[in-house]
Amino acid sequence: MYTPAITGTGVFTPQNIITNAELVAAFNAFADQKNAENTKAIAAGEMEPMQHSSEEFIVKASGIQNRYVMDKTGVLDPDMMYPALRQRSDEEPGIMTEMAIDACQKALAQAGRTAQDVDLVICAASNHERAYPAIAIEIQQALGTKGFGFDMNVACSSATFGIQAAADMVRSGSVRAALVVNPEICSGHLEWRDRDCHFIFGDVATATLIERIEDAQGPHFEIVSTRCATEFSNNIRNNNGFLRRSRPDGLVDRRDMQFMQNGRKVFKEVLPMVSRHISDHMESEGIESGDLKRLWLHQANKTMNDFIGKKVLGREPVAGEQPNILQDYANTSSAGSIIAFSKYSDDLQDGDVGLICSFGAGYSVGSVIVKRHG
Ligand code: COA
Repeated sequence: MYTPAITGTGVFTPQNIITNAELVAAFNAFADQKNAENTKAIAAGEMEPMQHSSEEFIVKASGIQNRYVMDKTGVLDPDMMYPALRQRSDEEPGIMTEMAIDACQKALAQAGRTAQDVDLVICAASNHERAYPAIAIEIQQALGTKGFGFDMNVACSSATFGIQAAADMVRSGSVRAALVVNPEICSGHLEWRDRDCHFIFGDVATATLIERIEDAQGPHFEIVSTRCATEFSNNIRNNNGFLRRSRPDGLVDRRDMQFMQNGRKVFKEVLPMVSRHISDHMESEGIESGDLKRLWLHQANKTMNDFIGKKVLGREPVAGEQPNILQDYANTSSAGSIIAFSKYSDDLQDGDVGLICSFGAGYSVGSVIVKRHG
C-alpha cells in the first residue's frame, strides 16, 4: 500500500464577474417585463405579480456578493436569462474541457509535473454537458495524459468523492498519479428567473493532483483519511436528462429542468448531518478539534459555514481558520471547498492537520483529512 498526497491544485476563474447590483437590476427588469405582459391576469387575481429581488437580501441570506460566469450577456438580458454559450462543433473541445485544462495545468505546474506523469483523470462535477464520450476522456486527450479517465457526479460533493476514489487507487497502486478535475458550469443549470435562487451559483473549475507521497517534488498534503456518506433527499433536485423527450411535456421549458431546492429544509437537514459526519470522521482518526488547523468547507452559504465551524471546533472560528470564498465566487458546487483549499493552504506548517468538506444534493457529504509536509 502507498500513501496518497495532494501535490498540486489549480483554479480556473472565468473572466466575467456579475455583481449583486447587476444581477438584481437584470432580474427586476425581467420581473417588470413579465408583470407588464400579464397586467390583466394579475388584475383579475389569476396570477401573482413577480416580486423584485434585493441586494440586501442576497448578502444577508447567503453572504454572496459576486459570481464569475462563462457568459454574462445572456444571463443579464431580460429576454434571455440564461448564458449565451457558443454552439461548438464535435471537433472542438467542449466548454467543460476548456475550463478544466487551465485548472489542470495549474495543478500540474504546482506539483512540478507534466501531463505525461498522470495516468488517471476523473472529471467530477454536478452536471456533465453530454452523456458520452466521457468529458474526462476529452480532457485526457487535450492534456495528453496516459491511462484512463471517467466521469462521476455526486453534485456538490463530487470533488471530495473524486478525491476518495483517486486516493484509493493511488493507495492500492492501480494508478500512480491522478487528476481530479471539477469544471462546474453552474450558470447552465441555475434558474436565473427565480428570485429565490437566482443569486446562488457561479462558474469555475478546480483541479487536484494526487500522487504517491514519495513522488512529491515540493510541499504537499498527505491524505490521512477520507470519508463519504449519502442519504436520499428530493430537496435539491434537477430533472433534466436524456429521457426528456420521452415525456409528453418533455421539451417544454419546465422549471424543474433547472436547479430546484427547498433551501430551508436543506439548511435544517444538512447542517446536523455534516457536523456529525465531520466530528465522527475526526474522532475515528483520533483528531481533536484543537488539533485542526484549518477547515475548508463547501461554499454555499456563510451562515451554514459559521454554524458548522462553531459546531466542529466547539467555539467561534478565529479569522482565517475557516476561510470563505463564496462572497467572491458564490456557490460553485463541488469546486467551492477546493478553491478555499487552493487559496488558503500555503501558510500551513509542517505537520499541520486540516479538513476539506463538501456537501449538498443527494444528500451527500464527503470529508478529506490532510496533513501538511514541507
Ligand atoms: N430578494 C428579496 N427577497 C427574497 C429573495 C430575493 N432574491 N428571495 C427570497 N426572498 C424572500 C422570500 O420570499 C421570503 O419572504 P417571506 O418571508 O415574505 O416569505 C424571505 O425572503 C425569506 O426567504 P427564504 O427562502 O426563507 O430565505 P432563507 O433565509 O432560507 O435563504 C437561501 C435562502 C437559499 C439563501 C438559504 O435557504 C440557503 O442557502 N439554503 C441552503 C442552500 C444550500 O446549501 N443549497 C445547496 C445547494 S448545492
